[in-house]
Amino acid sequence: MDAKHEHSVVVEEYRDEHFNEVADIIAKAFAEPPWNESWTREEVRHKLDEVRTHRNALLLVARLPGHGNKIAGFAAGQHISSFFRLEPYLKDKVPENSYFLRIMAVHPGFRRMHIASALQEVREKTARELGCEAIVAFTHHDNAARVRMFEREGYRFSHHHFGVYGGVESKHSYFVKRLERQ
Ligand SMILES: CC(C)(COP(=O)(O)OP(=O)(O)OC[C@H]1O[C@@H](n2cnc3c(N)ncnc32)[C@H](O)[C@@H]1OP(=O)(O)O)[C@@H](O)C(=O)NCCC(=O)NCCS
Repeated sequence: MDAKHEHSVVVEEYRDEHFNEVADIIAKAFAEPPWNESWTREEVRHKLDEVRTHRNALLLVARLPGHGNKIAGFAAGQHISSFFRLEPYLKDKVPENSYFLRIMAVHPGFRRMHIASALQEVREKTARELGCEAIVAFTHHDNAARVRMFEREGYRFSHHHFGVYGGVESKHSYFVKRLERQ
């Protein structure tokens, strides 16, 4: 899978050789407010391994050919059905046949270059190919950048949920984007 985007962003599937760059992006991105989390390499590895066990797991990186192929963004998701055993309450809140975005981060040095948007584009294409009727995603309720992005991409607010993430308790806002048949 390969998708070219403006600013020469190439989105492709995550491979083990990307781990160091991806761990660095996740640690930097989630150390920022409003998250204020501290992710060790081991915790990142555990998270990636865990996502990979789920149905239709999709782990993507965004690479920049104009910057020596630097990995500048990462996103991971899966079909939501296998996530319900971890968060059973969600079953009553969101469409069952959804694609679920678990994690997304862009390197702080490469923001506002539509890297997250390029990742979203590939994710949406995959969700449609899987026959999903919606994409479900969440963020910290105080994450203005991500909420702005949700609005721009046609997501609607679904509900709040309190969760512990990276060892910190936070209020999460869930969003749902309905995928129209094309
Ligand atoms: C949220 C995040 C992934 C966005 O990545 P990005 O590559 O900079 O986003 P994009 O360039 O694709 O932005 C797309 C649109 O989202 C909105 N947006 C993104 N960042 C924004 C910001 N800081 N302030 C306001 N709007 C913002 C804008 O509408 C933007 O379009 P525009 O630049 O044409 O106006 C990035 O800020 C990040 O990694 N944050 C820390 C980790 C995190 O919060 N991850 C999301 C967890 S759910």
